[in-house]
Amino acid sequence: MAAVYTHGHHESVLRSHRWRTAENSAAYLLPRLKSGDTLLDIGCGPGTLTADLAMLVTPGRVTALETTPAALDLARAEIGRRGLETVGFAVGDVHALDFADDSFDVVHAHQVLQHVGDPVAALREMSRVTRPGGLIAVRDSDYAAFTWFPQLPELDEWLDLYRRVARDNGGEPDAGRRLLAWAHAAGLTGVTATSSTWCFANPEDRQWWGGMWADRILRSDLARQAAERGADLQKISEAWRAWAAHPDGWISLLHGELLWKKPG
Ligand SMILES: C[S@@+](CC[C@H](N)C(=O)[O-])C[C@H]1O[C@@H](n2cnc3c(N)ncnc32)[C@H](O)[C@@H]1O
Repeated sequence: MAAVYTHGHHESVLRSHRWRTAENSAAYLLPRLKSGDTLLDIGCGPGTLTADLAMLVTPGRVTALETTPAALDLARAEIGRRGLETVGFAVGDVHALDFADDSFDVVHAHQVLQHVGDPVAALREMSRVTRPGGLIAVRDSDYAAFTWFPQLPELDEWLDLYRRVARDNGGEPDAGRRLLAWAHAAGLTGVTATSSTWCFANPEDRQWWGGMWADRILRSDLARQAAERGADLQKISEAWRAWAAHPDGWISLLHGELLWKKPG
């Protein structure tokens, strides 16, 4: 069941996570949130999304959950910086949550199920801690559906490499298309499955995304694992910079989404 979190928490990875907001990463959930909801954010990472969600459900309590105290400290720092007093913190694992049945109005996981060893068991566990009438909200990338221009061969190599490393670590990089199937396997019925994208296509956004990946492929935990496979990471990094500098550069990143209301 155990899977290794492929990316780790290097600065180049956190740069990507810290860009995330409720608007750009949880728009499918926002119309369903109510002031006063209690919310569990599983795999909260550095917590920018957690903080946004906490502001939307305040005075409802939010619990930010991560696998290690060190990862949780990243979220703690963000929540502290924003002066939010409704957020608590817990170390845990989505496969075996240390909460009573029916504990939360909303159980949320953004970009987490793609990294876990048993996403079906994870969804079952998420449904257990959701109160009757409450909601599960999940969003995950689908790497094989990422598409870009210009079609630099080194970026194809990047995608192939990432998908191989993620799978060797026990994850599923093409999670987006599988979320509905996983939910059905977990016994959830009446699920709403949608998709949405991130698109980076102006000079500033391209510099941010391309520059982030140019660093990440050289310095993050992924870099070490990719280097062990003999990949030319310098070449891939340069291709990301070339893509970012290209006036026609465009990328669209597909995500699958799930919303499920627990009967009751
Ligand atoms: C891609 S990050 C997403 C962070 C945050 N949700 C966001 O979107 O900015 C995935 C996070 O899931 C956490 N994670 C991985 N496996 C987990 C598990 N079994 N249970 C809970 N969290 C897990 C990782 O530590 C990592 O911080």
